[in-house]
Amino acid sequence: LGNGEGVNFSLLGPIGSEQMLRAVLESASQAILSVDREGKIRSANRRAADVFGYAPEELIGQSIELLIPAPLREQHIRHRSTYFQAPRVRPMGLGMDLMAQRKDGVQFPVEISLSYIESDNGIMAIAFVSDISARKQLEEQLIQSQKMEAVGRLAGGIAHDFNNLLTIISGYNRLLLDRLPPQDANRGYAEEILKAAERAAALTRQLLMFSRREMIHPRVINLNRVISAASQMLRRLIPQSIELVFVPHPNLGNVKADPGQMEQALVNLVINARDAMPKGGRITIETANVELDHEYSRTHLGVAPGRYVMMAVSDSGHGMDPETKRHIFEPFFTTKTAGHGTGLGLSTVYGIVKQNHGDIWVYSELERGTTFKVYLPRVDQPEEQDQRPPEIPTKSRLGSETILVVEDEPGVRNLIRTILTENGYRVLVAADVLEALQISQQHDGPIDLLLTDVVLPHASGVEVAKHLRVSRPGVRVLYMSGYTENAVAHQSVLDADVELLPKPFSFEQLLSRVRQLLDAAGPRG
Ligand SMILES: Nc1ncnc2c1ncn2[C@@H]1O[C@H](COP(=O)(O)OP(=O)(O)O)[C@@H](O)[C@H]1O
Ligand SMILES: [Mg+2]
Repeated sequence: LGNGEGVNFSLLGPIGSEQMLRAVLESASQAILSVDREGKIRSANRRAADVFGYAPEELIGQSIELLIPAPLREQHIRHRSTYFQAPRVRPMGLGMDLMAQRKDGVQFPVEISLSYIESDNGIMAIAFVSDISARKQLEEQLIQSQKMEAVGRLAGGIAHDFNNLLTIISGYNRLLLDRLPPQDANRGYAEEILKAAERAAALTRQLLMFSRREMIHPRVINLNRVISAASQMLRRLIPQSIELVFVPHPNLGNVKADPGQMEQALVNLVINARDAMPKGGRITIETANVELDHEYSRTHLGVAPGRYVMMAVSDSGHGMDPETKRHIFEPFFTTKTAGHGTGLGLSTVYGIVKQNHGDIWVYSELERGTTFKVYLPRVDQPEEQDQRPPEIPTKSRLGSETILVVEDEPGVRNLIRTILTENGYRVLVAADVLEALQISQQHDGPIDLLLTDVVLPHASGVEVAKHLRVSRPGVRVLYMSGYTENAVAHQSVLDADVELLPKPFSFEQLLSRVRQLLDAAGPRG
């Protein structure tokens, strides 16, 4: 089993008759082979037979090159003869990464330590061979997950800044639209801007989903219910030539996840399955309770052993090759022609699954089909209803209260001031925590609401709220954020009493949330 360093098997004489040695060899966890000057295998332990898929007696007397993939054999023979011409004197264990081949033709990565002895029959090499497939697999998964982490950070950063810009663009555009009379020729232009801004916001949202920074509202749900509820809509997405089958597990456990996100993940997987079957076929959605054991967790990076709920989406489509499989979760990776794929479907699924502390695995064979398996941790609590208040109608938006707006981005700050002022509110603005507290001190009248960005230059919006509440205990607080910051994303905080307005927000959303909070009984925050 050669590498590029010219080290090779030498010949090991009869290993010796001691029973002790035999016992050691037979119980070793590595494959151990001895090879003579001609390249013949002279002895092999039980593990060697297992690893290479031969019966022990099949190996003895064979050329060692039998265990090497064909393209590498000639090179190995050269290395072997070089080695035997000038055998190294010191006993050595050389760690080398090489490929080996089983009897059934399957190739696998191995690590080999080489040593040799001089015996009465000349020099014999002893090779200690470890199958390192599992380790290689984990290494690859690690590289993959680090890559996804880096790309996620990039995507999240871009999305965050874009959210601010989009809030400004669509906000001012909205102000413009409100001023233009219905028959004004310029309305069409402004409406085009609005449409483009909406598309950009949808794209930004997908990037946020991928980077796991989307504002989510997890609650205890049952995936069977989510899938059943979505099945009507799924059927509309696929042509007649594709059959859609749902096989729900009758006693499916619950999971804690954002139902909207899970539906989104399901839709994306089904659309991909559809696209993989242009001539028709079958999509199977299946759920099950599964136990992921230590063995699974050992071979799947970042998955803790435990009880999971699985949702599998399978198709009988064209499948994908290993190279495609390596890239499918990357944002903007697509094998589809322009206009048919954005390459964001699976990256959002990936982000959704990870954000909900789950895992996703894909099995695919060319021309046979593909299965995506999503695992979410199983919980024992009963299902929960949606607790979020519904959006209130727009007509009760107007107000006259005083609102302190804290936002470091001047474009967004001015926009919010304009919107709120135009709707009757008294607005105070500040760029950071110090300015906010100063303004509060100088302002004699009441401050009914603090509307603050979460990320601010010196201290977070949470700090602003904390300090402000000391001097103005009744003040209500509404946070704005381009993405879930750690300060507020911490689930218990988010679930309980933090009010959050995700950016980009529309005119209506801003006014409606502000009004909602001001109208809520009693002090809030
Ligand atoms: N069910 C599937 N069968 C075969 N290939 C798939 C399947 N799902 C995804 N893929 C591959 O993964 C790529 C990325 O998918 P996705 O992120 O959803 O982007 P898009 O669908 O826009 O191409 C696809 O272009 C396709 O090559
Ligand atoms: Mg897709």
